[in-house]
Amino acid sequence: KPITFEAEAAEHSGFETFMLKEIHEQPRILRALLEKHVSSEGQVLLPDGLSSDYFRKLNRIMIVSCGTAYHAGMYGKLLMENLTGIAVETDLASEFRYRDPKIDPGTLVIAVSQSGETADTLASIRMAKDWGCRIFSICNVEGSSVVRESDAVFLTECGPEIGVASTKAYTAQQMAFALLTLSIASARGNLSPAELKVYLDDLRDVPDAVHYVIRQKELIQKIGEKHHDGPSSLYLGRRFNYPTALEGALKNKEISYQHAEGYAAGEMKHGPIALINESLPVVCICTQTADEVYEKMLSNIKEVEARNGRIIAVASEGDSELAKLSDDVIYVPAVRDEFSPMVNVAALQLLAYYAARARGTDIDKPRNLAKSVTVE
Ligand code: G6P
Repeated sequence: KPITFEAEAAEHSGFETFMLKEIHEQPRILRALLEKHVSSEGQVLLPDGLSSDYFRKLNRIMIVSCGTAYHAGMYGKLLMENLTGIAVETDLASEFRYRDPKIDPGTLVIAVSQSGETADTLASIRMAKDWGCRIFSICNVEGSSVVRESDAVFLTECGPEIGVASTKAYTAQQMAFALLTLSIASARGNLSPAELKVYLDDLRDVPDAVHYVIRQKELIQKIGEKHHDGPSSLYLGRRFNYPTALEGALKNKEISYQHAEGYAAGEMKHGPIALINESLPVVCICTQTADEVYEKMLSNIKEVEARNGRIIAVASEGDSELAKLSDDVIYVPAVRDEFSPMVNVAALQLLAYYAARARGTDIDKPRNLAKSVTVE
């Protein structure tokens, strides 16, 4: 069904929906964040209000958030525990607030929220403050409740996100975590100045790589249209791209109303493998370059192939082995594995977008969903 927009066309700046416009804004936003938070001497600036000394002594971080921001939190946990030597945990704010997480005042609580008004995230912050914790937030709305109640803030500065399904706020939250991780890791001496430079150079590849993915939207559209009609689809990823699988499935559910499930690929044998047949699209995120996780992903994909699942691979440019196993491939530029989720998710945002378009849904305002969930 064609989407008509005459009246709102100006607001979409020529794009047919806000969501498509916001997907396209990502490379520019990521570039701007890099420019703002990295000094001309190549130092990643620490957030105002939190010093190097504070981070040197810190031994626990707890991340709380909801929805898409929760997936950013999962990514942040993986990155931070890997590079900073700090124990990092993450939870859904709606679960966290009813747990007894044994948190002491020495724990830094990080809230992630696009709107800064999500009820469960706010309640979690207030609880943590009562326990004497410091609160750091990654948020898109200056002056929002989450920002006002935090001790320190990283503003994602994406501009208003109008599409209910979050896109640019997500990749900006991931970039915030990447920058925060590098600043903490160098403050703690886990990264030498030379190592930091290598990581930063690799991080600087990300905006162009996202742009490259977006330029392939016609190919992604064909794949989205080809697989849009089934009742369900499965998204598989591992390690840094496990949250990407969850986020890809969430985008699909939110805007196309097709049931979609994101899974850690290693868990496939414990359930989802029973679903696989010739009509199930299985989106496999497999961009790791020749490491252990890549090999494991590949063998999971072979298990899907053996059961005639329809494999849609997100693969690194030039990976012909993966192409042989797949029905369809979306090639993305190879970037450092730790930063690949920002690139890979752009492909999945577009895949969900074009599947939804083929299904004729109201992409910017999907049924039953709210942009900001301010009640429990
Ligand atoms: C709603 C939105 C999602 C968002 C989630 C958390 O469900 O539809 O896009 O990820 O709330 O919102 P927040 O503003 O806290 O990031």
